[in-house]
Parts: sequence; structure tokens; C-alpha cells
Amino acid sequence: MYRILVLYYSRTGNTEKMANAIAEEIRAVSEMQVDLKYHIKPEELENYDAIIIGVPTYHHDMTSDMKTLFEETAMKNIKLKGKVGAAFGSYGWSGEAPRLVLEIMENKFEMDVLNPPLLIKYTPDQAGLEKCKEFGKKIVERLVQKLGA
Ligand SMILES: Cc1cc2nc3c(=O)[nH]c(=O)nc-3n(C[C@H](O)[C@H](O)[C@H](O)COP(=O)(O)O)c2cc1C
Repeated sequence: MYRILVLYYSRTGNTEKMANAIAEEIRAVSEMQVDLKYHIKPEELENYDAIIIGVPTYHHDMTSDMKTLFEETAMKNIKLKGKVGAAFGSYGWSGEAPRLVLEIMENKFEMDVLNPPLLIKYTPDQAGLEKCKEFGKKIVERLVQKLGA
């Protein structure tokens, strides 16, 4: 059974709504195990076939927690090469954070990334939540394509 991590941060709950919708959809359309987490140790990343990161954009950047996780993962030489990676997040006007996360996943960790990331402006409405579900389905499809059903 494939294991998917949905790791997210959310200050006012918008990215959290996205994370929940993505995780629920993956569970609804597959038997894959989805862990929804706020914090994780770098070593634990190795346990997953897909790593999906949710980050809102604050001050044109991702959160410092997420940066620290990437720093430690690189320092400890934890290998994420070939794992499926995706990024999403709520934003207000510029929305850099999910793009920055995806860039690191692709260039530093050589992950198999889903491009583009999913961005939703402020609180996801019904149409936004549908986009989150579609995103969840795409992640499942990529895993099945890569590793088999
Ligand atoms: C102090 C502050 C700084 C922000 N900076 C940015 C920014 O640089 N770019 C952007 O697109 N949105 C920015 N936003 C908007 C947030 O990304 C937006 O409110 C988002 O929905 C927050 O998601 P969350 O509820 O998951 O924390 C900022 C919001 C606050 C309060």
C-alpha cells in the first residue's frame, strides 16, 4: 500500500481546508494511506511514496518551519529522489510559497514533481475545494502511473 504525506502549515485555516480536501479525496478514490501532519522529523520523510506540502504565502515566502525541515533533510543526507512531490497553498496576491517548495523538491531533492502547484486565493470556496479534489486525484494518478495500481 502506498503512503502519502500531506504536511501543511496554516495560520488562519485556509491552507488547512485545502489540506483536508486533498487528503479526503485521496482516501475516497484510493486505498492509499494518507497521513495529515503539521510537523515531521526529516527521517520520517523516507517512509512516504509521495510528499505533498501545503504552505500559505506570508511576506513573499514559505514558513521558516518548512525551510528548517528542508535544511535538516539536506544536512542529514536524507534521500527523497524519485518520490512524488506536490505543493499547494492559500495566498492573497503573490503566492510564491508553493512554487518555492516545488522548486526545492525538484532541484535539490530530485523528486518527481507535479507542476504547477495548486494555489487558491484566501478561503477556498466550493469551486476551490473541487480544485483541491482534482489535485488529490492527480496525485493518485501519478503514483499509480509510476508504481503500478
Ligand atoms: C502579514 C501578512 C503577510 C502576507 N503576505 C503575503 C504575501 O507576501 N503574498 C501573498 O500572496 N499573500 C500574503 N498574505 C496573505 C495570506 O497568504 C492569505 O491570507 C492566506 O489565505 C493565509 O493562509 P492560511 O489561512 O493558510 O494561513 C499575507 C497575509 C498576512 C496576514
